[in-house]
Amino acid sequence: MKLLVVGSGGREHAIIKGLKKNKEVTEIYAAPGNGGIAKDAVCVNILATDIDSMVSFCIEKGIDYAVVAPDDPLVLGMVDALEAKGIRCFGPKKDAAIIEGSKVFSKNLMKKYSIPTAAYEVFDNAADALNYLRTAPIPTVIKADGLALGKGVIIAETRDAAEKAVVSIMQDKQFGKSGDKIVIEEFLTGPEVSVLSFTDGKTVVPMISSMDHKRAGDNDTGLNTGGMGTIAPNPFYTPEIQKQCMEKIFLPTINAMNSEGRTFKGCLYFGLMLTPDGPKVIEYNCRFGDPETQVVLPLLESDLLEVMTAVTDERLADIDVKFSDKCAACVIMASQGYPVSYKKGYKITIPEDNEAEVFVAGAKKENGELVTSGGRVLGVTATADTLAEALKKSYSFVKRITFDNAYYRKDIGARALRAMEE
Ligand code: AMP
Ligand code: GLY
Repeated sequence: MKLLVVGSGGREHAIIKGLKKNKEVTEIYAAPGNGGIAKDAVCVNILATDIDSMVSFCIEKGIDYAVVAPDDPLVLGMVDALEAKGIRCFGPKKDAAIIEGSKVFSKNLMKKYSIPTAAYEVFDNAADALNYLRTAPIPTVIKADGLALGKGVIIAETRDAAEKAVVSIMQDKQFGKSGDKIVIEEFLTGPEVSVLSFTDGKTVVPMISSMDHKRAGDNDTGLNTGGMGTIAPNPFYTPEIQKQCMEKIFLPTINAMNSEGRTFKGCLYFGLMLTPDGPKVIEYNCRFGDPETQVVLPLLESDLLEVMTAVTDERLADIDVKFSDKCAACVIMASQGYPVSYKKGYKITIPEDNEAEVFVAGAKKENGELVTSGGRVLGVTATADTLAEALKKSYSFVKRITFDNAYYRKDIGARALRAMEE
């Protein structure tokens, strides 16, 4: 079977490594992939958002199955375009990917179907938004409607910061058309949990829970990033909370999308906050999370390709999706200065043994050597019987990897370990 994975990050590397375990797979292409992914797949120089070239490539190579991993091509309708040419795919169609592509859509969906989320107001002009902010409770949360490279959410601790965010999104168009509308919502508190799920529109199978660490600095300080590390499972996600989420959030969301005529097939990501009033949805993503995938897929015991094709063929209810009862930890090695500015082009040296698994995110091949080419460079994942052991292995391997200007958080999993001791 010939496969194509669309995307170029650590998440795509983890998906490719998972797919490779299937014996039927003869070739895997990655578009565009990266210098590290090139070890596990044939990289093709097509931008992840270039739908026409992707379709032509699939036809030319006779691709049997394509996994569209990133948000942009999904929201743009890449799955629709591939399926129109008879290419089987994993990922939602455009009309369902809107659950991530428009925050206004997702908030209105949750309101209509009584799915617990933060209270909110929608604005399509800055004057009304600024007027509302005069009396809004502070802190408040401002969200650009559309995709904004993960930067479209501003937590404003003061009225002044909230006003500035509105002006920069709606008037200065910091995120272009993504900021034509905004959501202003209630600030929630509590531990965050990421739950990725497989769904074929009829059945929803939550994967093992995980916890991201979004801030750049130790003890959750500094700027928001794409994610500096993950652990799985998430100790805050107890069986009781899991049950509530299934009844009040997961199934109602799948049903809501069906009722809207927007059946979601693929990986639906629930970003949850466990508030004092119960679990609430912070965000939906229409795809696997990054770097959540780098801890979730290494714990998947079932065959990834079999699960994905079961989703595509709408027979998820007929298969068993099994996860290991081990723990996983992923530490992201970034370039010093990320997420603002950083230098690139430094040689990366990775030991050959398998103390931990390395998922490559921002690196390219130059004169036969792997060199840094992005903010987040590597994700280093280890699995073990306990979280403490997984973290120890991951950090031990991180210390043996070298590249100039390497930076990583020293406290991935620390909050989870503390919670388990309480
Ligand atoms: P993202 O949408 O991935 O850019 O992440 C935004 C982050 O902002 C989330 O992971 C939360 O930590 C935080 N966040 C988003 N919405 C809220 C909210 N209503 N209350 C508190 N924190 C929020
Ligand atoms: N880790 C959060 C995301 O993938 O958006």
